[in-house]
Amino acid sequence: MAKKINILLLSAAVLLLVLNACRKETPVTGASSPTLPETPYNYVNHNFLIGNNPFFNQPENNQLTNEGATLGRVLFYDTKLSLNNTVACATCHKQQFAFADNTKGSVGFESKVTPRNSPAIINAGMSNGYFWDIRTSTLEEQALMPVKNHVEMGLENLDNLEIKLRKVDYYAPLFEDAFGSAEITHERISMALAQFMRSMVSYRSKYDAGLAIDFANFSALEKMGKDLFFSWEMPCQSCHSGENFNGWGTSAANIGLDDNYADNGMGDLLANQDPAYDGMFKVPSLRNVAVTAPYMHDGRFTTLEQVIDHYDTGVKKHRNLDYRLTVDGGFFFLEGDGGGNGIPIIDPIGGSGSGEPRKLNLTETQKRALVAFMQTLTDYELMRDPKFSNPFTAN
Ligand code: HEC
Ligand code: HEC
Repeated sequence: MAKKINILLLSAAVLLLVLNACRKETPVTGASSPTLPETPYNYVNHNFLIGNNPFFNQPENNQLTNEGATLGRVLFYDTKLSLNNTVACATCHKQQFAFADNTKGSVGFESKVTPRNSPAIINAGMSNGYFWDIRTSTLEEQALMPVKNHVEMGLENLDNLEIKLRKVDYYAPLFEDAFGSAEITHERISMALAQFMRSMVSYRSKYDAGLAIDFANFSALEKMGKDLFFSWEMPCQSCHSGENFNGWGTSAANIGLDDNYADNGMGDLLANQDPAYDGMFKVPSLRNVAVTAPYMHDGRFTTLEQVIDHYDTGVKKHRNLDYRLTVDGGFFFLEGDGGGNGIPIIDPIGGSGSGEPRKLNLTETQKRALVAFMQTLTDYELMRDPKFSNPFTAN
């Protein structure tokens, strides 16, 4: 008898585990109709980062509206945007990972795997360059590229996309609300997707809360990490600068991951096949970085500790290695009061020309502190905000 109960308990525990595992990974389906709130969610006026922000990259003809972003949300989660109705944008850009993916490469519509790691879509409205090689400069232009991509969604002909969506009954009213008429065009599809992505603003991290109160909410370790990160003795903030920790969104660098890169990033772009750009990739935002593993354009590192180890001792002597990671570029001369409050004068590329990688010689505590600081950049509100969630799963 006792044995039977034990087995029962065990099966119940296993069932619970399975159920929990399922709940974590919400399946993306486009088969049903979306469930949307009576009054649209507020996507427009929710924080200081939007609106007066001079870095908010929003075209005149596609201003963010609640109705536009609502349509964008449905499109973002709809598998009908792929050739065989299996893949949505959200398949590779998952809310619980700050709209990144938790795999090295992401699986597209024919089970093919993307050669690069799916980046988080974070404060994309405050960036001017998209993709790891910065090959596009507006979200409107970017949004339909994955739809056409033969690995990602496979709908190469945009006329077919329009024909397909015109047959889906829930779209006409959503287009009407967003654009004033029910007409479905690929331009409107990209505009709505761009609006939704622009509304995904991350500004509710522990770090943001700390800014207002002199970081009284930080632990000693987190404070130490913050001070290290922002110290000019360290190279981090010279690239991951600005309120998005991404060099304002158009910076790129070679950080010496390899002697020879298999994927040369900007150097491989047809328009600019120039060896001077080999191994250069976009400087990614560090907001939410604790939940966007694996890291780098190819997802080679699985933990933040490994990333820190790379910067500490692992940087390779690539011919395009960014000067900020070399022994020559590691020093910043401060103009001003000399007490660290001046304007940094950065040695031009090459410094004295050795290109020799710099070792940071961090202690174990300093490494832990840097990781702890990066963890304060996580915005849990964003990841559970219903307005960014999957409208195809009843909520
Ligand atoms: C099969 C996986 C997959 C799907 C589906 C997918 N993406 Fe991506 N996405 C990626 C990968 C991988 C990259 C990086 C590609 C590169 O840099 O070359 C990326 C890059 C991006 C970026 C650039 C982010 C940045 O800051 O540079 C945006 C924005 C984006 N995708 C939006 C979308 C939208 C919108 C859709 C749906 C229409 C979509 N993605 C569908 C995998 C995917
Ligand atoms: C020379 C500019 C530069 C400097 C200095 C720099 N980074 Fe980076 N960082 C980059 C670039 C570029 C990438 C992406 C590289 C790639 O994928 O090839 C990156 C990637 C990262 C990533 C992975 C992010 C992701 O989403 O994959 C983390 C974490 C990171 N850097 C933290 C740091 C820290 C901490 C420091 C200081 C110790 C630092 N970086 C210094 C340019 C820089």
